[in-house]
Amino acid sequence: MRILVIGSGAREHALAHALASDVQTTALFVAPGNPGTAAIAENHPVVADDPAAVAALAVELAVDLVVVGPEAPLVAGVADAVRAAGIACFGPSAAAARLEGSKAFAKEVMAAADVPTAMARVCSTTQEVAAALDAFGAPHVVKDDGLAAGKGVVVTDDREAALAHAGRCLAREGGAVVVEEYLDGPEVSLFCLTDGESVVPLEPAQDFKRLGDGDSGPNTGGMGAYSPLSWAPSNLVEDVVARVAQPTVDELARRGTPFSGLLYCGLALTSRGLRVVEFNARFGDPETQVVLARLRSSLAELLMDSATGALATAPAPRWRDAAAVTVVIAAAGYPGTVRSGDVITGVEDAEAADGVHVLHAGTARGDDGSLLTAGGRVLSVVGVGSSLKKARAAAYRGVDAIHLDGGQHRRDIAARFGA
Ligand code: AMP
Ligand code: GLY
Repeated sequence: MRILVIGSGAREHALAHALASDVQTTALFVAPGNPGTAAIAENHPVVADDPAAVAALAVELAVDLVVVGPEAPLVAGVADAVRAAGIACFGPSAAAARLEGSKAFAKEVMAAADVPTAMARVCSTTQEVAAALDAFGAPHVVKDDGLAAGKGVVVTDDREAALAHAGRCLAREGGAVVVEEYLDGPEVSLFCLTDGESVVPLEPAQDFKRLGDGDSGPNTGGMGAYSPLSWAPSNLVEDVVARVAQPTVDELARRGTPFSGLLYCGLALTSRGLRVVEFNARFGDPETQVVLARLRSSLAELLMDSATGALATAPAPRWRDAAAVTVVIAAAGYPGTVRSGDVITGVEDAEAADGVHVLHAGTARGDDGSLLTAGGRVLSVVGVGSSLKKARAAAYRGVDAIHLDGGQHRRDIAARFGA
């Protein structure tokens, strides 16, 4: 299979890493990719959220499958354009990707499909926001309606801060915000492959969204993750498929906008039961880095079966009896305005450690070949081991071998669960 992966983050490097070692893959391209993917695939420059450009590249490279990593290209209609060019695509249509692109749309679908989620109100004025904040009480949860790279959500006890965030979102053209009830309890990410009808769950993972240790500081795109979740209820996956993923997939099919690709169910296990925190229309970053590190089955086959409506007869994914932990190293300033151009050293030393591999995100090569920071989340260091404790130790051995000025990472990823 000739495969083109769209995107340039650590998630796409993780996808490429798994596909590169898959016997089903005969040629692998990444666009635009990063210095990490350049080492295992052929990078091609492309504007990832330009549907015509991506479709033209897929035709030119004569690929059998395009795998779209990030949400922005999906919301822009890249999957539609690739399919219109006669090429299989892993990723939903623009119409189905609204499940991620609009939180208000996601709430509407969940209500129609009877999927458990936080009570919410969609607001378009500050008066409506103020009334909703008072109705739900603190802690306040205020979400930008549109895409915001994981940074559009504010959870705070401070009513003024909640109002200020809502004000900034509303100030934008067509801005709307969703105010919701606060969900207590641990969060779980469950990725479900779907071809628009059948749903095949992968293994659950947990993401660490806040910048600082002990879940302090602002929300980020994700600062680390681990899998498996030893503490999760044994029927969790079955329950999420039956009560969340399948009803959502069925509802979108019923509306004539079937969702094929990856349905990312972001869940809170609250004292009152399972609730959906968010849906995403693509693999999560950094959870993908740990989930794929544990996958034994052919990723290429699973993605192709999802893209071509063949999941009903596909064999269930098989998993390594191993744990994986990833720790994200972010640039100075992240998640605010980041500084670029800092020199990164020690990646080779990190990869020389047992059970460690390093995935690139915001990196670039300088003129002299040195590795430089070029984005918010810079690297995702993955440790794999026979237990979570060993996987965690490996990940931090890797992190400790790497240096970049102003680099930020958490020291407590998977720490509480490392028995
Ligand atoms: P979202 O972009 O909707 O995934 O939200 C990002 C993060 O904000 C989530 O992973 C949660 O940690 C937090 N969050 C979002 N919604 C809620 C909620 N209703 N209650 C508590 N925390 C939330
Ligand atoms: N890790 C959260 C996300 O990918 O949205």
